[in-house]
Amino acid sequence: MVSNRKLLALPGDGIGPEVMQQVYRVIDWFDRRRIASFELSEDLVGGAALDAHGTPLAESTLQAAMAADAVLLGAVGGPKWDALPFALKPERGLLRLRKEMALFANLRPALVFEPLIGASTLRPEVIRDLDLMIVRELTGGVYFGEPRGIETLPDGTRRGVNTQVYTTPEIIRVGRVAFELARKRSRRVTSVEKANVMESGVLWREEMQKLHDCEYKDVALSHMYADNCAMQLVRNPKQFDVIATDNLFGDLLSDCAAMLTGSLGMLPSASLGAVDQSGRRKALYEPVHGSAPDIAGKDMANPLASILSFAMMLRYSFDLAEEAALVERAVLNALKGGARTSDIMQPGTARVSTTEMGDTLLRELDKLA
Ligand code: IPM
Ligand code: MG
Repeated sequence: MVSNRKLLALPGDGIGPEVMQQVYRVIDWFDRRRIASFELSEDLVGGAALDAHGTPLAESTLQAAMAADAVLLGAVGGPKWDALPFALKPERGLLRLRKEMALFANLRPALVFEPLIGASTLRPEVIRDLDLMIVRELTGGVYFGEPRGIETLPDGTRRGVNTQVYTTPEIIRVGRVAFELARKRSRRVTSVEKANVMESGVLWREEMQKLHDCEYKDVALSHMYADNCAMQLVRNPKQFDVIATDNLFGDLLSDCAAMLTGSLGMLPSASLGAVDQSGRRKALYEPVHGSAPDIAGKDMANPLASILSFAMMLRYSFDLAEEAALVERAVLNALKGGARTSDIMQPGTARVSTTEMGDTLLRELDKLA
């Protein structure tokens, strides 16, 4: 059995705690089956941390995240905290974690599970067997660029400023992650920017091309403007293998890609840092969906994105590819059996609660083990 690994769970706000509860059950299943065990601790982030400590990310939580082998996050944010200044917003907690842990590479796979083909708004033939990976730069660009702020001008009107900025090393390190992933897939990378209007986009394109020419000639690289990419994603998503893009475009395009798969409730993500001398890399795993305050506390949310994020953790942080595949197969079988939370309901399937989806998943894991 794999020895203890330190996990920090940050359930956060809204549906975060409910979906995390189902992840705990999967962790517990692995432990009971003596397949893998984890040393699990839990802490607050986002609005929950703000209410308790007056900050969306306490210093002690950040330290615990830095010390953990992997962090599992639920979701942050909600209407209760919407009016707060930026520095206090729940989202700041997540952004600070990403920045301080230097999680520059965000992997967002969009994979269509056959039983959910009918849950997508797109035609079956457009999405059947879809399997693409968005690699989103996560610690730079307009999310963190300086200067930023809102100022009042002498005439009393106001001016809001954000800065889109990228440097060569920032582009190269995330580019490498994209090329390396492509080597294990179909060896195709589409690099996405707006080089037609933005200097940072010109730089992005040039650095990606140079990196390709120097180190990754075995991978096919193409370039695409972000607006065209959004259109191509809904027109013919299967043309893509790995999409490499910046922080903001990656945010938009990954929501778009999520809907190809039927629901935002299905999409996991991994946020990775650099590999250090000991071979260890900081990592955070979270569903792509948000805190969904409208359905929070109703036992309605889809826990599968969180559970699939846990599977990504097994694969990327602990090299447990078989165990990850086991979880993914259990998800597929639960869906095949007709279990559906309300976000993926289709005629002829059974609506289940968050907890019941967890029950179903454990049953499927039992069958597979
Ligand atoms: C995401 C989210 C976050 C982002 C928010 C919650 C700060 O939309 O992870 O995609 O914009 O990065
Ligand atoms: Mg987003």
